[in-house]
Amino acid sequence: MTTPTPPARQPPPGQPPHGLRPAGLRPAGLRCAHLTDPLAVAPDRVRFSWRLEGGGADRVQRAYQVLVAADEDQIAAGKDLWWDSGRVGSAASEDVAYAGRPLIRGGSYAWKVRIWDESGLVSGWSATARLEVELDQASGWQASWIGLGHLREKVTPPAKAGRHDPVSRALSPAPYLRRGFQVTGPVAAARLYVTALGLYEARLNGRRVGDAFLTPGWTDYDQRIQYQAYDVTRLLVPGQNVLGAVVADGWYAGFMGFDAKRAGAHYGKALELLAQLVITLADGSQLLVATDEHWRGTFAAIRHADLLMGERHDLRLEPRGWDAPGFDSEGWHAVQCRDRDEVRLVADPGTPVRVTEEIEPVSIARDPGGRQVVDFGQNLTGWLRIRISGAGGTSVRVRHAEVLATDGSLYTDNLRTARQTDEYITAGGREILEPRFTVHGFRYAEITGYPGDLDPADTVARVAHSDIPVTGSFSCSEAWLDRLFSTIDWGQRGNFISVPTDCPQRDERLGWLGDAQSFARTACYNRDVAAFFVKWLDDVADAQYPSGAFSDIAPRLSIPWHGAPGWGDAGVIVPWTVWKMYADRGVLERHFGAMTAWMDYIERANPDYLRARLLGSSYNDWLAPGEDGTPRELLATAYWAYDAALMAEIADALGRADDAGGYRALWSKIRTAFNEAFVDGDGQVSSGTQTSYALGLHMGLVPDELRQDAAGHLAIAIEAAGWQLTTGFVGVGYLLPALSATGHTDVAYRLLEQPSAPSWRYMVDNGATTIWERWDAWTAERGFQSPWMNSFNHYTLGSVGEWLYRFVLGIDQEPGTAGFSQLALRPHPGGSLSFARGAYQSVRGPISVGWQRSADRLTYRAEIPPGVTATVCVPSSDAARVRDASGRGPSSLADFPGARGLREAVFHIGSGAHEFSGPR
Ligand code: BGC
Repeated sequence: MTTPTPPARQPPPGQPPHGLRPAGLRPAGLRCAHLTDPLAVAPDRVRFSWRLEGGGADRVQRAYQVLVAADEDQIAAGKDLWWDSGRVGSAASEDVAYAGRPLIRGGSYAWKVRIWDESGLVSGWSATARLEVELDQASGWQASWIGLGHLREKVTPPAKAGRHDPVSRALSPAPYLRRGFQVTGPVAAARLYVTALGLYEARLNGRRVGDAFLTPGWTDYDQRIQYQAYDVTRLLVPGQNVLGAVVADGWYAGFMGFDAKRAGAHYGKALELLAQLVITLADGSQLLVATDEHWRGTFAAIRHADLLMGERHDLRLEPRGWDAPGFDSEGWHAVQCRDRDEVRLVADPGTPVRVTEEIEPVSIARDPGGRQVVDFGQNLTGWLRIRISGAGGTSVRVRHAEVLATDGSLYTDNLRTARQTDEYITAGGREILEPRFTVHGFRYAEITGYPGDLDPADTVARVAHSDIPVTGSFSCSEAWLDRLFSTIDWGQRGNFISVPTDCPQRDERLGWLGDAQSFARTACYNRDVAAFFVKWLDDVADAQYPSGAFSDIAPRLSIPWHGAPGWGDAGVIVPWTVWKMYADRGVLERHFGAMTAWMDYIERANPDYLRARLLGSSYNDWLAPGEDGTPRELLATAYWAYDAALMAEIADALGRADDAGGYRALWSKIRTAFNEAFVDGDGQVSSGTQTSYALGLHMGLVPDELRQDAAGHLAIAIEAAGWQLTTGFVGVGYLLPALSATGHTDVAYRLLEQPSAPSWRYMVDNGATTIWERWDAWTAERGFQSPWMNSFNHYTLGSVGEWLYRFVLGIDQEPGTAGFSQLALRPHPGGSLSFARGAYQSVRGPISVGWQRSADRLTYRAEIPPGVTATVCVPSSDAARVRDASGRGPSSLADFPGARGLREAVFHIGSGAHEFSGPR
């Protein structure tokens, strides 16, 4: 007999039904070195992380246990463990460094974790994750570099290029390389380790290996070459097999930056491939197929492929079936072999470039010359895929541009010498036209030679960039601001291509450190860039000078500039940001020496603690509109002090108390010197630029007793400028945070919502879909800015994204903490916004918040994951009356730092969903 029960009262989201124990807390989303199941990780980078899942309130991990063994069976049996951490009493669910027996190079391991919750209950074991260790640099490689560098082949210049065109003289066709081999039995596992001097696309039995593009990525090839590892078990068959690769110029041999003297071949001219296929047969025996003298090669359809210039394919020359068994390679050439040298071969620790989206045309129109111009409605990086059918020998040319001239034709002057043009000669029949080794920055494409009208269904833009997963979201009551948020994200997508570049279209595309540091925090909120920055910070370290100076660009190419304030300082700021956002202490350990060398380099030259010497190229507040009036020494000294403060935190995180003390002492000496030189007794900061104030306030340099006065002067200066920005690359990211931190959130919103240039809103209202390099890239009065420097996709001015997350939404961390374990959730409602909501997928799980306000009330909602606590500060005109969902009042009250006259209600919360409401 069943007794009817009354319907259960619905618990608030994230809470268990009354009377029931919360579901078990369990570890999920296991990662090693920020990657899921990496196939080649350096042994000293093996650091584990997981997320906690499970309902209920106030959930925490009290302890964990990690097991590592050669395979799942051994873990299950608890036998032959490589590491058993034992029960470690710790709340850390990220950055757990492997501490077992030394891992074997090329070895494969399984690992899992279990945790104990707040009441001491142990979870089940997590699903098993895997990791494989990178090869030994000397003994792990049996392959030789191979290529066709000994052969000369004629190149057809790109359309319209004359005989003496330096570009066509530098371009060369892409070698196709292949070798057949026998697999003598069923395959249990197979790994392909592969890299190139150039870019490679590996092929196995007629199929492309993996989905990554522009591999092996950009490093300083003279110092460090990355390789990728692929699981190719399923691509092999017993019997005849063929391994092949096409190699193209890329960063190694192609056009790079604006250094025309080195047109093509910054690192070398001869393209080479290095590959090693390790096959484990079912009987346990191993086969090895490596690049060596048994390979053969030829030049074929890809007549040239260059990152800046584009590609030319003569599809009539494609040897069909060349990468599969049964192909006759009789006419192919013997390859040239070269022994490996001393240059380090390292497993790629980063994020591969992939096609992450395809975008259909918004419209196709004819320009005054009758050329078809496709508009994709979004400025992006990638290329076009075009379907064509018809007679062979048809020449099709595709040019790319970010914007149109007034007559509707492509505007390409701002590309400088980059051509970003793809050309094809068809073979006949139904074909796909698509480049393979280039990337263009464009919204529009002009297509000539295509027979008849291009059907929109026959083309698509393929969006390509480092595949950094989305972690942030933002939406609010103002449609234009939602568009700005999307514009910031697209700017990041377009410029995170193996390294963080300034722009993706003109002849530059360089890893400028200043741009990267000012945008780093926004970048981390928007997307998971942990592995991406970890990789780039190795580039930064490689580019450091023996003097300790960080270069202005990394990889540094042949460009010798170094030490510029705000640029070189990225060598401290970006590792600190990666630690702050992802709790990665490994990155701090790895670069601590480089960072201290940088600090010593500055201090040696500036014994009086004013950074006036060794300012390198000093770009100062780069591209500040109008006059850049911020004194150079002021900007430089502020950054030096900031570095010192961050170094103290870094040293603390590494348990280096002495160093931390030393850097705190240094910070206070620089601060004193800064104040003596630049701050008046009434809180005025020298020169009075917005950037001077933003730096002095944000970096904590203005004495505490003068902060309010200084902030007041800043607000007056902004008003005097007509509520308009005067900041360039350096000041822009700090200005709104500095205003909000000193009670002037209203002024911050006025700048944010300012409709006329220079402003963010002006960009968006005038068609920007990626952040412009310059506030006035285009104006109705003057048209385009100087073509010599006018990118429509330069992420730096998008560093306002950090303020949207940390201040508007209020998703921030307690000072001194990292990895979002202790949150400080302090929303800053304002401007014309009636609501704002958003989320951040942190290393500890999703943090989701939102506020809405009516004429007299403000409601703030926050949901935080297990293992996380938060202090929630709700601003109010009557903070004592703010209540949580169960009617409880605040645990304390304080002045709200974001606005004068408001107080904040302070609550302490644990995991779960919470809501607070009170008078506005
Ligand atoms: C780049 C910038 C960079 C700057 C340094 C420019 O050419 O596009 O983004 O930071 O040079 O001054």
